[in-house]
Amino acid sequence: MCGITGYIGCKQATPELLRALKKLEYRGYDSAGIAVLNGSRITVRKMKGALGVLERKIAEEAIPGTLGIGHTRWATHGEPSDTNAHPHTNLSGNIAVIHNGIIENYGVLKEWLQARGVVFRSQTDTEVIVHLIDFYYNAAAIAPIGIPGTDLFLRAVLEALGRIEGSYGLAVIARDFPDRIIAARKDSPLIVGLGDGENLLASDVPALLDHTREVYYLGEREVAVLYRDHVDLFTDQGERVIRPSSHVDWDAQAAEKGGYAHFMLKEIHEQPRAFTDTLRPRLKIADGTPDINFDEIGLDASWADAPRIVITACGTAWHAGMVGKYAFEHFARIPVETDIASEYRYRNPVFNPRDLFIVISQSGETADTLAAMRLAKQKGARILAITNAVGSTLARESDLVLYTWAGPEIGVASTKAFTTQLMCVYLLALKLARLRGLLDGRAYRDALTSLQAIPAQAQKILENTAAIQRFAAGHFNKGKVFFIGRQFDYAVSLESALKLKEISYTHSEAFAAGELKHGPIALVDRDTLVVALATQTALFDKIASNIQETAARGAASLVITWEGEHRFDKIAGEIFTIPRTDDPFSPLLSIIPAQLFAYYCAVLRGNDPDKPRNLAKSVTVE
Ligand code: G6P
Repeated sequence: MCGITGYIGCKQATPELLRALKKLEYRGYDSAGIAVLNGSRITVRKMKGALGVLERKIAEEAIPGTLGIGHTRWATHGEPSDTNAHPHTNLSGNIAVIHNGIIENYGVLKEWLQARGVVFRSQTDTEVIVHLIDFYYNAAAIAPIGIPGTDLFLRAVLEALGRIEGSYGLAVIARDFPDRIIAARKDSPLIVGLGDGENLLASDVPALLDHTREVYYLGEREVAVLYRDHVDLFTDQGERVIRPSSHVDWDAQAAEKGGYAHFMLKEIHEQPRAFTDTLRPRLKIADGTPDINFDEIGLDASWADAPRIVITACGTAWHAGMVGKYAFEHFARIPVETDIASEYRYRNPVFNPRDLFIVISQSGETADTLAAMRLAKQKGARILAITNAVGSTLARESDLVLYTWAGPEIGVASTKAFTTQLMCVYLLALKLARLRGLLDGRAYRDALTSLQAIPAQAQKILENTAAIQRFAAGHFNKGKVFFIGRQFDYAVSLESALKLKEISYTHSEAFAAGELKHGPIALVDRDTLVVALATQTALFDKIASNIQETAARGAASLVITWEGEHRFDKIAGEIFTIPRTDDPFSPLLSIIPAQLFAYYCAVLRGNDPDKPRNLAKSVTVE
């Protein structure tokens, strides 16, 4: 994943591009670059390393110009280097391109271009794009080709796009057209910001909010031409597209750190508010009784008759799907299969068109998740998306969309997006249970009352971060950390172990506690910390035995359990308690201390939790 941006207006482009790149840095940070068009020439500056390296270079020598494009890279083809950094230019330097995505047929295109005398300078797939545009630009200049009614520059871009297979969000500038930026997307997000006397481009909304909240979310295979005073939209066949813009509700402050040391910490602390934002629009009081209102998605009784629910997702979202497996089966008594999207897409799954297919994705742009969703769609599935990203590919291609309303999540390690995904899953499970006649009025009301208490309970946990900080200080150097739990607690263990490994680089794993004795216990020694999630009351004795088994082999332990619960007092190394809710809802709360533990371990180990090595916020390539 990479971040791309563009600016055309009356201000100097360089500071605007750098400001936007700062907001997009989470999308990639192994190199960065900008290209600015100043009337008669394009100036490119690009450097290996974080954005700061580029900023220092530019500070030494300003680049004048009011039109430019910028890129922050997460390498896929070609190692991070100055040469492989974007923008890429054609040989004469009069066209520059930035790109997010993967050109799958770049090998064939490269050979084709090389046979025509093009000399490649980088190892990137992106470089073929600029040479292709250059090729068609020159060809069209000699004899008009292709799509009529468009100018030379646009025609050349459209011809090049016609040759490309794969995914792209890209922006192009040309020296001979100093009044415009051309942008295009396929399977990679790209948003046009509509300003006053200026127009902008970015891979994500926060990079636009300093300027505007009016945007076009570019559609699949859509092309935008940005001028200072207007934007034209086209299909990739050159046909005009006329449609209204969208309004973004987030404000710029919501996309900033708000006084926290890191975005991740801020986002952990935003969870009470995020819970409320997810819940409030869906909870309606009718005749004094709370009910879940899903008018927004038009969920009707036919969905409740689904013989099976299939959930696919990746990473943290898959863990939300694991909680979903337990929640839908527990409340709605519908069998559930939860699978990793990259597995599902290649497995020739057995499929019933009446199945309810749920796809969970924070970004709505994860390549594997989209592929799994498209496969299911092809087979006739009804798709319900749970996503945080309005206008994302997933949101646009699904039948129904349940937004998590977590607000922008910048930290690479997902926190509030996860817990709001869980909230959506519970609401859906309760609604389906009610539609299926499985919850009487009282049980339904009690469950909704419990969910309404969650924001305040989450806040209470966040007021006790010092206890987790102390615990992290005692254990951040452990060689191995194992999270164990059963049922809902197992799903939370999976997410807890992922959080810790993602940002602290500690070897951490999750085990269904009952499986310990079948292998993993061989790994337990004095260098092991065991974090036991213990919130499923019916299974207390079982998890207590597992904690004792690991303690007997020298492991230190932390037990996360309910306030007022003393079952583990004598066997736990340490205990962290969370406010009591119904056992099935425990993941909404029990994950919070695990997120904080991962965060503090990362900081104590000297890592930047917002920019974990080798990871990207959203993986839009396979
Ligand atoms: C990346 C991120 C993970 C995220 C996963 C799925 O791997 O680093 O944090 O859980 O993608 O992302 P999605 O946007 O589909 O939820």
